[in-house]
Amino acid sequence: MPGAETFRASADAYDRLVGRYSTQLASALIGFAGVELGMRALDVGCGPGALTAVLAERLGPEKVAAADPSEPFVEACRSRLPGVNVVVAGAEALPFPDGTFDATLSQLVVNFMRDPAAGVREMARVTRPGGIVASCVWDYAGEMTLLRAFWDAAREVAPERAAVADEGVVMRWCAEGELADLWRDAGLRDVRFGALVVSATYTGFEDLWSPFTTGIAPSGAFCDSLDENVRAALHDSLRRRLGVGDGSFELSARAWAASGVVPGSSEECE
Ligand SMILES: C[S@@+](CC[C@H](N)C(=O)[O-])C[C@H]1O[C@@H](n2cnc3c(N)ncnc32)[C@H](O)[C@@H]1O
Repeated sequence: MPGAETFRASADAYDRLVGRYSTQLASALIGFAGVELGMRALDVGCGPGALTAVLAERLGPEKVAAADPSEPFVEACRSRLPGVNVVVAGAEALPFPDGTFDATLSQLVVNFMRDPAAGVREMARVTRPGGIVASCVWDYAGEMTLLRAFWDAAREVAPERAAVADEGVVMRWCAEGELADLWRDAGLRDVRFGALVVSATYTGFEDLWSPFTTGIAPSGAFCDSLDENVRAALHDSLRRRLGVGDGSFELSARAWAASGVVPGSSEECE
């Protein structure tokens, strides 16, 4: 569970770092999972609520619930989405009865769970037989451009410390196909695996850099822990690697997604 505690932080900082990809990613995940009008859905590890918001817009707030262990994120999600039931809870112990939802989703969360196997089993428990469980995780080692470039720059300026913090190395369930194995091991059926590619725009390099200095997420926490001169070298290396300057630009990001069906008696009705 590297870094889960780094999300007990401001929703605004999260929105400016990784959250700027989250709404587009939410639409892609919902499409991949096959969430449809009329379904009841749960967002596990909702953060400030990007996926929750897209679910509420499509299904209606009364059909959507959300959970996250970070109190500031739950507060932000509640205030942004009145009418959605948002609870403080981790994936490993969801406070909902068996079979409550037609679809249980989580976005960019499985690799932060204390016990991912238990978390996915719990997501399946609160989903009805025949319902959907789906998640996605960043391709940290490959084509999540922002974070890959950040850790490559970090390995240049602080090699020893970055080697043991690089999310492309330390995060499990983020290599191609790995998430699907977790889904099968949790007993889910008809498991599908795929890539979701999204993008985000920046007004210039400082727009990209400033959220790292807030200490949010593992990358921000790493940045925050550096001496001033090493942090300045990281800033310059990242800018050079991305090849961007003061003008606006766009970066793409790839996430791996897995989806499966909860086994049980109503499967035949699907
Ligand atoms: C990268 S953020 C993703 C937030 C949101 N889903 C999004 O797509 O923007 C990771 C989230 O996982 C949450 N988290 C950490 N440990 C968790 C756990 N055991 N169960 C559920 N969520 C957890 C964090 O609090 C944080 O909100």
